[in-house]
Amino acid sequence: MIRLISFEGGDGSGKTTQLQLLEKYLTSRGKLCLTTREPGGTALGEMIRQVLLEAGKVEISSPTELFLYLADRAQHVREVIRPALASGTPVLCDRFTDSTLAYQGYGRGVDLDMLRRLNRVASDGITPDLTFLLDCPVEVGLSRTRQRLQGSKPPGLLAGGPGSGQAGRLEGPDRFEREKSEFHQRVRMGFLELARAEPERILILDATCPVSEVHEKIRKIVDERLKDGQ
Ligand code: TYD
Repeated sequence: MIRLISFEGGDGSGKTTQLQLLEKYLTSRGKLCLTTREPGGTALGEMIRQVLLEAGKVEISSPTELFLYLADRAQHVREVIRPALASGTPVLCDRFTDSTLAYQGYGRGVDLDMLRRLNRVASDGITPDLTFLLDCPVEVGLSRTRQRLQGSKPPGLLAGGPGSGQAGRLEGPDRFEREKSEFHQRVRMGFLELARAEPERILILDATCPVSEVHEKIRKIVDERLKDGQ
């Protein structure tokens, strides 16, 4: 049974687009699902998201950052994900526990075993049944992000409304988009290592391929797993 599907990848990998396409596809087949994201996904989470991705000059220490992501997840799991799963609704989540391992672990250098323990507490033991890792070279992702930001308003303003893919998106580069390329390289390598360690769960997709091609692959995989009752 696929109950929770997460979408992971570096900044600009196109995971949000793919999540939305899969939601449309499943809905068109009469399979209602819930789409959500981290950070965010709850009213409290959206506040935490703004603090975390703050485009201004607020310095956030690495442990503070970690606890904010975990706090966001703890709320999200209990308020949104667990109730949806309990009612039999599949959940599509834009980023989940693997992002913490990739960004705070591989990116910032926080101990991975400790992160796994903390992730278990925050997620109340919930793990994704299937994870799509949208992988592309860092430069490709960053240049897509730059393009997305072109013509955006001054830092600090919010774009998008609730329910839109970009809801609450901060205009101007967020804290992570301002990180150096080496940081993003570590994050990318981290995601790939996680996928190698769990090849059944984490499927790597080449995010440099056209959107429709990536979507086609995702559809096939989801259809197969649904058919197999996995
Ligand atoms: P995201 O919403 O994917 O932003 P974008 O769509 O602009 O890439 O994620 C926001 C940032 O939060 C992203 O750079 C990754 C980071 N992040 C972590 O560092 N740790 C986490 O546990 C999560 C969920 C996200």
